[in-house]
Amino acid sequence: TRVAVIGGGQNCEHDVSLASAASVAAALDPATYDVVPLTIGRDGTWRDRGLRPIGLSGAAHVLRGCDVVFPVVHGPRGEDGALAALCELAGLPYVGSGVRAGALAMDKWATKLVAAAVGIATAPGTLVTAATAAHLRWTHPVVVKPVAAGSSQGVGLAAAPEQLRPALEAALALDDRVLVEDVVTGREIDVAVLRCADGTLVAAPALEIVTDGLFDYDAKYGGHADFRVPARLDEVDAKALEDAALTAYDALACSGVARVDFFLTEDGPVLNEVNTVPGMTEHSQVPRMFAAAGLSYPELLDELVRGAHR
Ligand code: DAL
Ligand code: MG
Repeated sequence: TRVAVIGGGQNCEHDVSLASAASVAAALDPATYDVVPLTIGRDGTWRDRGLRPIGLSGAAHVLRGCDVVFPVVHGPRGEDGALAALCELAGLPYVGSGVRAGALAMDKWATKLVAAAVGIATAPGTLVTAATAAHLRWTHPVVVKPVAAGSSQGVGLAAAPEQLRPALEAALALDDRVLVEDVVTGREIDVAVLRCADGTLVAAPALEIVTDGLFDYDAKYGGHADFRVPARLDEVDAKALEDAALTAYDALACSGVARVDFFLTEDGPVLNEVNTVPGMTEHSQVPRMFAAAGLSYPELLDELVRGAHR
């Protein structure tokens, strides 16, 4: 089976996507899969396995020669449904969430509305745009984040009034819609959900991110965070987290694997976000969680490819 693995992309998670894609390409079992790597540059240029620019038509030619497309581009113009749309229009089987799930989950405001509709708590928050930002007054500590960005880019804490403007400006630089949310205090717990190739839906054991302060870009990729898998949870919390993760995955109509991120508070799980193209290096949360469930990284990738949209 010939699998096109697409990495890179035109956003601040470019390097993270390259790492995820390289890991996926290296771990797909060579006895079954012939990997064809493709890279999208920061400027949108498609490149072949030798990193030679081939343009969209060259990429389309390569993709048509593959049996399955495995998009591993995090963030906007990738995870947001853009690559799923390309595959849909070209009639190519592809791994992971479809256009609508990608777009809904990428948009933290849309995710919040869907979550509320199915009874999953999220942080109380307001949507702010460049037009309304000037009217916003600081009343209590808030987290400011672009509605659609990844890896905590543009996310800032406004603990004091004078921190609100700079936080809004930083977030508005990355997106024209910004979410201003109450600070939620709780343990950071991730739950990975997988639609197996046979159609069954499974949740992997939850993972706890142990960090002091924000699990921000530096903590994510600078090695300052520890994962505890499985997370130490009592039965009630474990069940509440798993139920909420499965419900969120289902309500957003995700496919393939998604990582559902929560804060576990005294009042139960509060949904932070859903990642439809989660970090996929061997040391990222999703492979670690499935490994704890007895599903190795190559086995997880195999489930994903066999479960591709057709
Ligand atoms: N957005 C990063 C890649 C993640 O969620 O893992
Ligand atoms: Mg994310």
